[in-house]
Amino acid sequence: MSDSIVSLSGIHKSFGPIRALDGASIDIPPGQISALVGDNGSGKSTLIKILSGNIRPDSGSISIEGGTYTGLSIAQASAFGIRTVYQDLSLDNHKNSYENVFLGQELMRGPFLDRRGMESETRRLLDRLEIAIPDLKVSAGSLSGGQRQGLAIARALLRPAKLLLLDEPTAAMGVRESHRTIQLLRRLKEEEGLTQLLVIHNLYQVFDVADRVLVMRSGKCIAQAMTADSSPEDIHDLILEQERRVEDI
Ligand SMILES: Nc1ncnc2c1ncn2[C@@H]1O[C@H](COP(=O)(O)OP(=O)(O)OP(=O)(O)O)[C@@H](O)[C@H]1O
Ligand SMILES: [Mg+2]
Repeated sequence: MSDSIVSLSGIHKSFGPIRALDGASIDIPPGQISALVGDNGSGKSTLIKILSGNIRPDSGSISIEGGTYTGLSIAQASAFGIRTVYQDLSLDNHKNSYENVFLGQELMRGPFLDRRGMESETRRLLDRLEIAIPDLKVSAGSLSGGQRQGLAIARALLRPAKLLLLDEPTAAMGVRESHRTIQLLRRLKEEEGLTQLLVIHNLYQVFDVADRVLVMRSGKCIAQAMTADSSPEDIHDLILEQERRVEDI
């Protein structure tokens, strides 16, 4: 599809004898939230890592901004505006909020860290995203699960983003914090037009937040549907190989 932000076509990736991806093809249309679902081991995280440049496919192609690539490096993915929030969030628990947001891209004033500049930019970014962290000097390790997720998303969006990838953003979160995270993702789509690809296991959350759902099974994307035209039960059955209503999707 030429109007996709990025397309993966026929992607294969094996780890020794394990075939993680076995000819997976997906298109990510702009301005939508796409949810990647599928059972454990179906290849979702591997697909995310291929898009973020952390894993190079064995074969297949990636089309993005008019070019076709056999794999992306982390630097290339970043230059294309692909930002990733991993499930472990990769925060440094001993550093505070603004140090985490600027981790690896610190602002300097001559030879010194520009702490005031980083703090005020972080405040502006968190306000824009409506993420409530009252004290930016508190270490990330002592923030709530929802605040930590917000911080990781803020860090991903410090520089302009075209595609945000999130691997299980609501895993290990309570109902209220999951709800807040989902509201944030929805706001990012509605107010900033940010295209997102999420991995989520909870199908009710998928139908709450996503425009499209892509079903992975055994390293392939076996079905896709608009959430408006489908139901959690349909997708549940597809994941479980009960293709009762596959002709409707
Ligand atoms: N670095 C690796 N080394 C060896 N095997 C791997 C590696 N990464 C993934 N795999 C294997 O590839 C398959 C797909 O893994 P992947 O993490 O993509 O699945 P997933 O759909 O994200 O699963 P989950 O829902 O459990 O997170 C699994 O069998 C997994 O064990
Ligand atoms: Mg995974």
